Formats: sequence, C-alpha cells, structure tokens
Amino acid sequence: MDYKRLIGDLIKEVINVDVYDSIEIPPDKNMGDFAFPCFKLAKELRKAPQMIAEDLKLKLSHESISKIEVVGAYLNFFINKSDFSRDILMHVLNNKDNYGSSKDGEGKTVIVEYSSPNIAKPFHIGHLFTTVVGNSLYRIHKSQGYDVVGINYLGDWGTQFGKLIYAYKNWIDLDALEKTPISELFRIYVKFHNEAEKDPFLEDEGRKYFKMLEDGDKECRELWEKFRSLSLLEFEKLYETLGVKFDSYDGEAFFSDKMDRAINEIESKGLLEESLGAMVVKLDEYNMPPCIIKKADGATIYATRDIAAALYRKDKYDFYKNIYVVGTPQALHFRQVFKTLELMGHSWAKDCIHVGFGLVKFKDKKLSSRKGEVILLEELLNMSVEKIREVIEEKNPTLKNKEEVSKKVGIGAIVFNYLKMNRERDIIFDFDEVLSFEGETGPYVQYTFARGKSILRKSGINIEEIDFSKYVSLLVDDNEISLIKSLGDFNNQIKASINSLEPSVITRYVIDVAKNFNKFYNSNHILNLEDENLKIARLILVYATTIVIKNALYLIGVETVDEM
Ligand code: ARG
Repeated sequence: MDYKRLIGDLIKEVINVDVYDSIEIPPDKNMGDFAFPCFKLAKELRKAPQMIAEDLKLKLSHESISKIEVVGAYLNFFINKSDFSRDILMHVLNNKDNYGSSKDGEGKTVIVEYSSPNIAKPFHIGHLFTTVVGNSLYRIHKSQGYDVVGINYLGDWGTQFGKLIYAYKNWIDLDALEKTPISELFRIYVKFHNEAEKDPFLEDEGRKYFKMLEDGDKECRELWEKFRSLSLLEFEKLYETLGVKFDSYDGEAFFSDKMDRAINEIESKGLLEESLGAMVVKLDEYNMPPCIIKKADGATIYATRDIAAALYRKDKYDFYKNIYVVGTPQALHFRQVFKTLELMGHSWAKDCIHVGFGLVKFKDKKLSSRKGEVILLEELLNMSVEKIREVIEEKNPTLKNKEEVSKKVGIGAIVFNYLKMNRERDIIFDFDEVLSFEGETGPYVQYTFARGKSILRKSGINIEEIDFSKYVSLLVDDNEISLIKSLGDFNNQIKASINSLEPSVITRYVIDVAKNFNKFYNSNHILNLEDENLKIARLILVYATTIVIKNALYLIGVETVDEM
C-alpha cells in the first residue's frame, strides 16, 4: 500500500485539499513514519498551523495507522507495523522482476540520445559518461511504461572526413588498420593535422575530398563507409560489455541530405540573416551568439544538422520528450538549437532537453598523466576488472566463474561510480575508493546482494515456494522496518529520478537499501534462530531485498552476481 497516498486521501476527505506532495518521511523514527507539515495549509485555511494539526488529529483515523501525534506544526503518523511490513513485502514479492515498474508513461514516446561518439576517433571517458547516463535514463523510462527510443547520434559527418580520406590515401598502414582500426585511423588523422601545419595546402585537399564525399563520389563514399563500419564494430564491442543497446544509429551523416528542408524553413520564417559571409539566426535578444546555419564557404554544420535531426525526430516519433545526453560544454549549442526551433514556431521545442554532465578526472597521477584521454577507457575497464579479480582471488579462491564475476563487478564498479553523484558535478576517479568493497561503491552493493543470495542458499529452504503471507507480518523490529521502508520507497525514487533526469537518485537509493540491509543483517540473527516462523519471515525479507537491489541496479546498468 502507498501510505503517502492513504494519508493524503484521509486528509483530503477532511479539508478537500490534495496534500500528497507535501507528505514527508521524517529523518528520525521517533517522529513517526510519515509527517505532514501543517503550515503549508495555514494560508489557505486561515488558521494557525498548530490548530490545523490538532483539528486533523481528531478527525483522522484508519486501521493501518496506529498513532497520530502533533509536534509543533507537524502531524506525525505512525503506521501499524505488521500491516506495513505485509503490504510492502507482498507488493515486492508479487511483482518480483517487475517490482518498481509502472504504466505511468504509457502512450508517450521518449527519445534518449546518448553515447554518440565520433567515428574514426577513440571512444573516450566522456563518451562513457553519456553512455551510462543515457542507458540508465533509457531503462528508467522504459520501466515506467514509456515507449523509449535510444538513439546513437554518431559523429560521422563533417569536413574531418575529407581530411581522413586524404590521410588514408597517403599514409594508411593496412596491417595496423586490421588489428586496431580506430587507433590506426586516429593516427593518420593526427598526422594530417601535424602535416597541415607545415603545409596549408593539405587543408584544401581535405575540403576537396569532403566535397567529393558530399557529392557522392564512389571511392570517397566507400572509404567513409569503411571508416564507419570499422568504428562501429569496435564501439559495439564496448556496448556489449556494458549491456547497452540502441534502437537507431541515425547519426549526423543521415541528416546530410535532410538539411535543405531545415534551411528552407528557417529562411521562409524570415529568420536567416547574413553575417560576415555566413548565414545565421541572430539570437542577441536572448543573450546568445548567433546560431550558424551555413558557413561562409557554403558548408553546413553541426547546428544545422541538429535542427534537421530534431525536425525529423518530431515527424517520425512524435516525441513527448527528446532528451540529449551530452556533456555540459555543449550547453550553449543546445540552447541555440532549441531557441532556433522555437523561433521557427515549433512549440515542441520546449520538450527538447539537454541533459548535461561534468568532466571526468583522475586522482591517480599514473592515469591522468597519459597523453590525452585516448587509451584510457579500455585501460580503465581492464584495470578495474583486474583489480577485482585480485580481491576475489584472495577472498573467495574456490569461486568457479571468477572471470565472469570479475567482469561484472569490475565494470559495474566503474558504471556505478559514474552514476553516484549528480551528473553535472565533475567526477574525480579515485580507483582505490571506486573498487573498495566498503563504502558507497558498486562492489559494496553487489557484495550485499551476493551476501543475501548466500544466506538464502545456506538456509536450504526453497524460498520461492513459501506462502509469504503467512510470515511477513512478523517483521516489526526497528531494523526490519527501516529496511522494509526503504524497499517500499523504490517507486517514489524512480519517479524522482525521472523528474530530475538523474540516475544518481537510483544509485543513492540502492546504497541506502544496501546499508539498511547490512544493518539488519549485522544486528539480527537469521539462520540460527529458534523461532522457525521468524526465521522464515527474515529469509523472506532477505529475498525481497535481493529483488529490489537487482531491479535497482538494473536501472543504472549494473549487473548482479549470486556469489563473489
Ligand atoms: N558526437 C558529438 C561528440 O562526440 C556529440 C553529439 C551530441 N549530440 C548532438 N545531437 N549534437 O562530441
């Protein structure tokens, strides 16, 4: 049962105001399980908050509420513990894998654009950030019944591909290309830039080849396709490791022939102006530099492609929300694009949302001193898996599938750390901390899950065959109630994470569940209990906790292991 709803409805019956959103969970159990601050009603009811509280106290009653107290302007509600445990646990146990999901978003399409790396360039740690944030937002929305479209807006178009074609024709090492395609392509791309500094003629060559590519020259087109497919092959390996999927790979190139429509529309609305030879949409009125639509040399650019892509997405998906998970440094770009769409008369421009995130830095000097962020990503993941393997080797040397477990825990640790804080904050990776089995980390939560599973295994009871309803009301002790309360809060947390587009809400939540579980586990006997009924009740609680941890970790893209 949703107690917040219950209390909200009871109050509404008396005063005819919906106070649901104001009902709080007090930080201290002595102040009740739920509280309602009556000062929120003082103005409306023209009464002192304390009087409102006293008055409500007399008029409210329900079998599931064992006590109501007035403290200052607050009404504190104490829930009947047995009812509380039964309601929440039965809800978890009846829904299992689906616990937490809802149909709130049914009939609405949400686009989540994420990852979007540039082809022929290494996938860097910033791209990992958008990938994990986007993947999580994808899963979170899906869990609430939205139709979600995951788009990987590949950076696969632009003048740089003309340069790359020139570089390929002159310097490619085919053996290297076969072994490590992206780094070889990146090598010749960097070489192009170094050479072009000495010989500006190369820039003209680059432009020439891009023009040929745009005009559909067969050889250029084939090379471009090769760059794209080789890159995708490498990216996909990573996506598979992370369990990340996309519904569409319509990247920048896909829009190269869809820009005229956008430009014509901008022009017909009288928004296109000339400025220093370029065609722009002026945005001074909105305190922004102009949005460049066509460069002086006639070439179209990034912003134009984004405008064309947004128009296309509205047509194709009729989205309720169009979310762009892209680093905060591109915030201005998106404000310009969205403003231009709005000036073009598209009221849905307000449904386009830029979800930004911070920078990633490393505490470990060894990692940050490397040239660029280039090799770092693979290195980061490998190192993480390796270190976890060492810990497991020491803690649980007889574990059978060490390889698989180290992978899930090692990679999960990195993903977890990316999603732990508000996404707009910069992340400073402290490897020792990220991989620790204690503290607020992925391994800590995964370990908690595995501990739960291990207790269930050791019990020798086939928990799924138990008639839960016979036992769950027995759970009334403080630690049990705190844990149950956190299990019951899952849905609210998912809603909060959707409202703020913040996966970290879920990460913080699952940490909280794990902490409550460990507190319960450390202070309550489970397996060596004389009271067989209470033992089963506690095992059921363990089981319910593993369900919730698994479902919550899934929402942030982290897998669980039954043993580690
Ligand atoms: N490919 C770009 C980059 O790596 C990110 C694309 C962001 N999405 C967009 N619709 N502009 O920086």
